[in-house]
Amino acid sequence: MNKNIAVINGDGIGPEVTAQSIRVLNAIGEKFGHQFNYTYCLMGADAIDKTGNPLPDETIEVCLNADAILFGAIGHPKYDNDPTAKVRPEQGLLKLRKSLQLFANIRPVNTYPALEHLSPLKAKQLENVDFVIYRELTGGIYFGEKKVADDYSEASDLCVYSKPEIERIAHLAFKAAQQRRKKLTLVDKANVLETSRLWRKVVQEIAPQYSDVQVDFLFVDNAAMQIIVNPKQFDVMLTENMFGDILSDEASVISGSLGLLPSASVGAATALFEPIHGSYPQAAGKDIANPTGSILSAAMMLEYFNLLEEAAIVRSGVAWALSNGFVTKDIDGVNYYFTSTIGELIADYVHNRVNTEVNRNNIELRKSTII
Ligand code: IPM
Ligand code: MN
Repeated sequence: MNKNIAVINGDGIGPEVTAQSIRVLNAIGEKFGHQFNYTYCLMGADAIDKTGNPLPDETIEVCLNADAILFGAIGHPKYDNDPTAKVRPEQGLLKLRKSLQLFANIRPVNTYPALEHLSPLKAKQLENVDFVIYRELTGGIYFGEKKVADDYSEASDLCVYSKPEIERIAHLAFKAAQQRRKKLTLVDKANVLETSRLWRKVVQEIAPQYSDVQVDFLFVDNAAMQIIVNPKQFDVMLTENMFGDILSDEASVISGSLGLLPSASVGAATALFEPIHGSYPQAAGKDIANPTGSILSAAMMLEYFNLLEEAAIVRSGVAWALSNGFVTKDIDGVNYYFTSTIGELIADYVHNRVNTEVNRNNIELRKSTII
């Protein structure tokens, strides 16, 4: 198989973690005889620095013509602390989502027994946690009309949803539920918001087409609580843009580290794969960031290409690294390995070079020297 992948390293730790995914993808390519071609393009603070534009037209062009997009991270503190900045890195990502109509952001949440001690939840609550969030990504308050008074005395953000916007992601979420445990939870604020009442109405209308799926409804404040109190109750969670943004960050810490979780954004054109973590500027360039979220995003990309065996090997490589203690600093602050070592180990795993005889002595050399 020959695939053209647009690579957007982005900001902060983006380039480092993405490089490890590419290493793993190349190992997959060599082992299975696939050719992955990469075209690098700019977005975010990196693009602003180099071109003045957070999303150059050339990036949109390359992405539209690619088979998939692998993206690192976006954001830089110099913009976060300046609320009046007119050009912001995040505008690049929002414009890319809109330009490619990436209307569904899919964020799986599951747990790893080896990391139970890092989770803020108790072990008992972590058993059988396995759900996926379907977050609407191109509508709602993120994209409604924005206003700010000239003297900054008032501002507003409009939240708008149309029926077709809700329908298209609802169908994807119902189909996903059919392939899983057949339960769909719509999260909204229908006791207050008109847009939420529309979401409920549309989902209720569609539900009979998926009669094998059990549907329930939760207000977002209650959902935020249920994610902590009883996360195993969820199978597919469907929600609008901003609720999904907040709840998926909340849900991500259940697994023990924000650095582990991948995501896929799908829509009308090319799909995009990215870890859910941010640009983590404090760690940039230090080779300490966790590449797992990015590598698992690459696994989701392989699944999207229908390379299921290949994706399964990447996933078992990640599980192997975690259960053998080959982890980055966010997971073990004392005995940690470098970002690049984890990528190298998982690529070696793909090549069957690590199975039984892990040569710890060699690996130790690439370990942190802190201890
Ligand atoms: C995410 C991020 C983005 C969002 C930011 C960077 C614009 O937090 O992908 O969840 O809010 O959607
Ligand atoms: Mn977010």
